[in-house]
Amino acid sequence: MSLRLIANWKLNGSIEFNNQWAEDFFKNFSSKNSKSIGIAPVSIYIGHLKKVIGDCGIEIGAQNICDKEFGERTGEISASMIKDMGCKFSLIGHSERRTFFHESNKIISQKLNQANNNSLIPILCIGETAEENKRNKTYDVLESQINEALRDLNQLSSIIIAYEPVWAIGSGKIPSPEEINSIHKMIKDVVQSRFPKIGLKSVLYGGSVNSDNASSLFVLEHIDGALVGGASLNGKEFAQIANILSELR
Ligand code: 13P
Repeated sequence: MSLRLIANWKLNGSIEFNNQWAEDFFKNFSSKNSKSIGIAPVSIYIGHLKKVIGDCGIEIGAQNICDKEFGERTGEISASMIKDMGCKFSLIGHSERRTFFHESNKIISQKLNQANNNSLIPILCIGETAEENKRNKTYDVLESQINEALRDLNQLSSIIIAYEPVWAIGSGKIPSPEEINSIHKMIKDVVQSRFPKIGLKSVLYGGSVNSDNASSLFVLEHIDGALVGGASLNGKEFAQIANILSELR
């Protein structure tokens, strides 16, 4: 079963937060299947969060990994270290990393390679800006982000792509579900036609997902799940989104 619902906690959290979140989540999560759920906390809290949620099937992952394996990269964390902590996945190329940390598609490609070498599932994040969307450049931008990130990687045993329009992140605005569905179909077509040896597990949508709009997204064929920011910080709200996903999928 591929990961289908991932919480990206961004720069939020504390020991107390982990405890409260887990209490709220498990009180409200009504499905038996937690195997398709992932949480990406700030890396320093991975060990604590693992202890708090126990052996419930939810996977823990990182929000970012270094493009190098070891050495002179003060402050960074490598894919092998994340693996060592018992993680199964890492987000790669989130738009906040592209914007605030100037991550290029080349660096992102190296990070994908690191994830693959260490058997971490990479969640490659792609998305167009408001300006690109206005100029009808969405398909071109996504296609070139995919091509540039995957070009030098002949084979990736598994990858998940998260489509996150930059203008939809944290804004309360989202494209129409039908629009997202056709963009996801395009993403699947591009990966399958250009990179047939790459194992694309699922295409998730991210950007202002919450328990009110989740069902309109998850009913559609090519929207395999979601990468959730703000709404994932509340354990109850995230459990409600997870319940909707397990009812519809
Ligand atoms: P929001 O759900 O807060 O819009 O954030 C989406 C996101 O960036 C997930 O990676």
